[in-house]
Amino acid sequence: MTTTAIAHPNIALVKYWGKQEKPGNFPATPNLSLTLNELTSTTTVAKTTSDAFVLNGSKVEDAKLSGFLQKLRARFEIPPLKIESNNNFPTTAGLASSASGFAALMTAINGHCALNLDAESASEWARMGSASAARSMFGGFVSLVPPTWRAQPLANKDHWPLCIVIAVTSEESKKVGSTEGMRRTAATSPFYKAWVQGAADDYTRANDAIVARDFGALAEVAELNCLKMHSLMLTSVPTLSYWNAATLACIEQVQVLRDKGLHVFFTIDAGPQIKAICTPKDVDNVEAALQQTQGVIKTIRCGIGHGARLKA
Ligand code: PMV
Repeated sequence: MTTTAIAHPNIALVKYWGKQEKPGNFPATPNLSLTLNELTSTTTVAKTTSDAFVLNGSKVEDAKLSGFLQKLRARFEIPPLKIESNNNFPTTAGLASSASGFAALMTAINGHCALNLDAESASEWARMGSASAARSMFGGFVSLVPPTWRAQPLANKDHWPLCIVIAVTSEESKKVGSTEGMRRTAATSPFYKAWVQGAADDYTRANDAIVARDFGALAEVAELNCLKMHSLMLTSVPTLSYWNAATLACIEQVQVLRDKGLHVFFTIDAGPQIKAICTPKDVDNVEAALQQTQGVIKTIRCGIGHGARLKA
C-alpha cells in the first residue's frame, strides 16, 4: 500500500533568514508567503524494510531528511519507509523545493501512518524539516509568526488573484544551502540585528497591504524586505551572493515596467531566479518582457495555489 501527497512551493513576501538559537527549527523573525500553483512536489511513501529516498528518479542520501525522520520517530511509531519524491521544477535552485518537499512528505506520512494531525500540527512538524515548509501546508497567503510558529492561513487564494512570473536564470543547484547561509549571516553580518528588529514592522505592513489588496503598499514592503535579506547575505563573511548577471537584468526590467505603469514587483529567494508578482491584467506584458531579458532561460507563470493534500 502506498500514500501519495502533493504540495506546492511558496514564495515569501516577508522573508525569514536566520533561526532562533534553540532546537525546533524556529525562524528568528515573523514571515509571510503566498503558495504557488503549477509547481508541484509529489511524494509517495510505502512501508519497507529500511529507509530509502528516491528524488527525481535517483536514490539519494539526505541528512536533512534523515534528521527529520529521526525527530518524527522520537514522537510517533513510524516504520522504515520508501520515499519517492518528484518535482516538476528545478530542485535546490532557489525555487523552494524544500518547502514543497517537506510539506508533501509530512502530509503523506500523516496519512500513511494514521498520525491524525490537523493541518496546524502537521505544519509544525513540517517546520522541523524546513521552516518554509510549514507555510506550504496551506494555500493562499500564509503567515508563520510567534508565539506558536505554526503556519496559519491569512487569506485564501481567491482573496486576491495575483499572478507570479518566475524568470529562471540558472538551473544549477545552489552551492550554499539556506541553513549554512543563515548561520553565516547571523554570526557575521553587521546588519543582522537591524534585520531582526525591522521584521515585525515589515510583517505588519505586508499583512495590512494584503488585507486591503493594496498592490503599491505590498510592492514597496516586499521589495525592500527582499533587498534587505540579500544585503545581509552580501555583508556576511565570507560574502554570500545568490544572484547572477541575469538576476540583476531582471530587477532592472521590473523597474522599467513599473515606470511604464504596470503593476509588478520582484522578489528573490536563496537562488538566482526572479519572481515577478503582478496583476492578471499585466501578466502577459510582464512575462514577454522577462522572456526577452538577457540571460533568462525560461519563464514559468503561476497563480496562487492550494495547500498540501493527499492525492485521491
Ligand atoms: O525553509 P528554508 O530553511 O529552506 O529557508 C527559506 C529561506 C528563504 O526562502 C530565502 C526565505 C523564506 O522565508 O522562504
